[in-house]
Amino acid sequence: MDTAEIRRRFVTHFEQAGHTAVPSASLLLDDPNLLFVNAGMVPFKPYFLGQETPPYVRATSVQKCVRTPDIEDVGKTTRHGTFFEMCGNFSFGDYFKERAIELAWELVTKPVADGGWGFAEDKLYPSVYVDDAEAVALWRKITGLPDDRIARLGKSENYWSMGVPGPGGPCSEILIDRGPAYGADGDFSAEDRYLEFWNLVFMQDELSAVRSKEDFDIAGSLPKRNIDTGMGLERVAFMTQGVENMYEIDVMFPVIEHAMALTGRKYGADPVDDVRFRVVADHVRSSMMLIGDGVTPGNEARGYVLRRLLRRAVRSMRLLGYEDPALPELMPISRDKMGETYTDLHSDWERISRVAFAEEEAFRKTLQAGTTIFDVAAAKVKAAGGAQLAGDQAFALHDTYGFPIDLTLEMAAEADLSVDEAGFRALMAEQRDRAKADARAKKGQHADTSVYRAILDEHGPTEWLAYETLETESRALAVLAGGAPSTRLEQGDVGEIVLDRTPFYAESGGQVADAGIIEFDGGRLEVLDVQRPVRGLVVHQVRVVEGELSLDAASASLHAQVDPEWRIGARQAHSGTHVVHAALREVLGPSALQSGSYNRPGYLRLDFGWTTGLSPEQVRDIEEVSNRALRADLPVGWQYMSLEEAKEWGAVALFGETYDSSKVRVVEIGGPWSRELCGGTHVDHASQIGTIVVTGEASVGSGNRRIEAFTGVEGFGYLARERDVVGQLTTLLKTQPDDLVTRVGDLVERLKAAEKEIEKARLATLLSGGAALAAAAQDVGGVQVVAHRVDGAGGGDVRTLALDVRGRMPGGVPAVVVVLGVADGKVAVVAALNDAAQQRGLEAGALVRAVAPFIDGKGGGKADVAQGGGIDTGRVDEALAAVLATVAAG
Ligand code: ALA
Repeated sequence: MDTAEIRRRFVTHFEQAGHTAVPSASLLLDDPNLLFVNAGMVPFKPYFLGQETPPYVRATSVQKCVRTPDIEDVGKTTRHGTFFEMCGNFSFGDYFKERAIELAWELVTKPVADGGWGFAEDKLYPSVYVDDAEAVALWRKITGLPDDRIARLGKSENYWSMGVPGPGGPCSEILIDRGPAYGADGDFSAEDRYLEFWNLVFMQDELSAVRSKEDFDIAGSLPKRNIDTGMGLERVAFMTQGVENMYEIDVMFPVIEHAMALTGRKYGADPVDDVRFRVVADHVRSSMMLIGDGVTPGNEARGYVLRRLLRRAVRSMRLLGYEDPALPELMPISRDKMGETYTDLHSDWERISRVAFAEEEAFRKTLQAGTTIFDVAAAKVKAAGGAQLAGDQAFALHDTYGFPIDLTLEMAAEADLSVDEAGFRALMAEQRDRAKADARAKKGQHADTSVYRAILDEHGPTEWLAYETLETESRALAVLAGGAPSTRLEQGDVGEIVLDRTPFYAESGGQVADAGIIEFDGGRLEVLDVQRPVRGLVVHQVRVVEGELSLDAASASLHAQVDPEWRIGARQAHSGTHVVHAALREVLGPSALQSGSYNRPGYLRLDFGWTTGLSPEQVRDIEEVSNRALRADLPVGWQYMSLEEAKEWGAVALFGETYDSSKVRVVEIGGPWSRELCGGTHVDHASQIGTIVVTGEASVGSGNRRIEAFTGVEGFGYLARERDVVGQLTTLLKTQPDDLVTRVGDLVERLKAAEKEIEKARLATLLSGGAALAAAAQDVGGVQVVAHRVDGAGGGDVRTLALDVRGRMPGGVPAVVVVLGVADGKVAVVAALNDAAQQRGLEAGALVRAVAPFIDGKGGGKADVAQGGGIDTGRVDEALAAVLATVAAG
């Protein structure tokens, strides 16, 4: 049964049982605890946590997931995939254990002909949490299985929570026995034998603290009990398809097959190669799906994970003997398989492939640079008579050049060297510890939202009026000082305040927070920042500029007032961002998509996926199209709709943003010309933006470019400054603005010509002494020797002079010319010998080496010409004497 069919049957089964089918959310949801969506329930978290009311009580989904902590295990086991799809059914306070077990068991055991998986009952083993007697009884009742077929497992296997305080509960897993070839009878820790493929979580407890998987406090029972299940699509696929592991299923194996054709190696012939093939299949797919959802390669967080996946895939292909660009060969195969379900992979292919292929190119360059560094290091080790590359060298290659250790090992072996692997690993471990400590510190800083959650629980969500008004009367609900609840803030203090209603825009979607003031009886607060640390709650960071704030008094009445000037600027900049985005897509094509943005009053910047620099004409076109939209005074409007409707409407959803799929806000400018999902504040019609002045375009890391612009008054201010510069230049050059470029061009030309003349003259002066020098050669034992010092001449000049003098010496007689140039505190030396001198056994390189100690330098070259340099200018005379002595001795 192919994967698509398994997916279809799963959804149909649950739809028929009254579940709403919810499409997969993006892999990127903004949850401070998660890099990527890693389970089917993640998009439903607000429902499980009781923060939002679900629009349905039963749901089912097939969710894209990425988990990377086990990246090193990929390909080594049968079931570790960095990308996978989790099929789930969810009950929000509706059915519980019994129905969940019934529904799962039915699908698993129903014959294939009737729409199920058709798994034989005698191969199936449910597991339960040891204390969950209720689950044991239900499994026995529903399945008729004897007691000894129900495994009782502990907390680490069969108790599930989200890792944070909130709902959790015991779970049951369904395991399938793959037979004695995969492990001992009854040994449930032999995961290849007893393969777990479906986890049913019975959320019944309220957890007050979660310290680890096995260490948590249960505060009591949940008022509403929930069901969350997760079935591994790939696992069911590999069992129903009769293959050995998840990498061999229908949507993955074609990549392996093509990799075999490219490398000429066989899958199944060598266990080490097999792991590489599987890594390729897994990582190509995962990285494609991540790019599809808007991740671009980088050095941090999500970008780093993607970079690692892409590089590991490329690297594995190299280890399989394939050195050409691999992704252009392999990724289209993965696209064709996954694109049947995720059609965006096709429509967005130009962008996805551009990002992936550019990263492979960059990595190939890294490999090249690293190879040179490696060669130098290896040569040094050998020159010093060593046989081992030091751990810190291997680490530097890894850390600075992104050179994987296995590559270093392999190349060292080829060069007959070993590598101090223990030293390398120790340094790696140190780095990992540092990174972990960093991560812990970071997490501590922003992940603890419990204080805000408590406010939200007590007072409910903030009434948010940013779209309606700039000022309102309100009441203070909570005050925080130093992050902890407080009742007062004194003059000069910075703290936080939560109001029952607020007109302040909280930073989001690239738009900075509003500025403004909050007044209370006897005092005033300046609003420094506005954030939404938990969904629904707006928190103002404020400084007390006047008076003293006491929660008691402030809870009676306050006046919150957004700075109207600020807001006008913010609206102009945010609408300007949409206009520039639409203009960008008009000029470059629809595959140019915003990957990030930032706007504050008067200024905007927009990052977009694009690998090549824009021409000045393209930048000008973007600016012109933008300003035409302003001149046409396109209307700006917004409305709410479902995510699906918004997509049908062609609205651009931005990557990395979280959307509530039942209700999104679509902002449009000029109807279909610009439609974006956006929660920002906007002008009413385009001419209110004033002007858009694009100031630049540049690269911001692999596959991403940034365009910047000024809007409104700042735009005019920028133009005025430019006009000033032009004014000053025209005065200075006594010309008209229109002639300025020709005038400056002329000046540059003349300057270049003058520099050339100066250079010619300089050279003539330098060489003018050549004939005299040649004539004044001394005879040293039958060799004509010129040893000369010239001041103010660097390496190039010294060489020119030495060769010139040599050319003037009579042929047939041995001649040696050594010139030392002293300039900028350095000494350059060039030795030039004619044939007769070389026949006498004299060598230019030896002469330079003879000079080197006196100038604290080094150098070398061939027998006829050699050169070097040093940093001691005080002993040049001795150096010249050494030349004569060397010739005399030679
Ligand atoms: N949320 C559960 C899991 O990830 C189903 O295993």
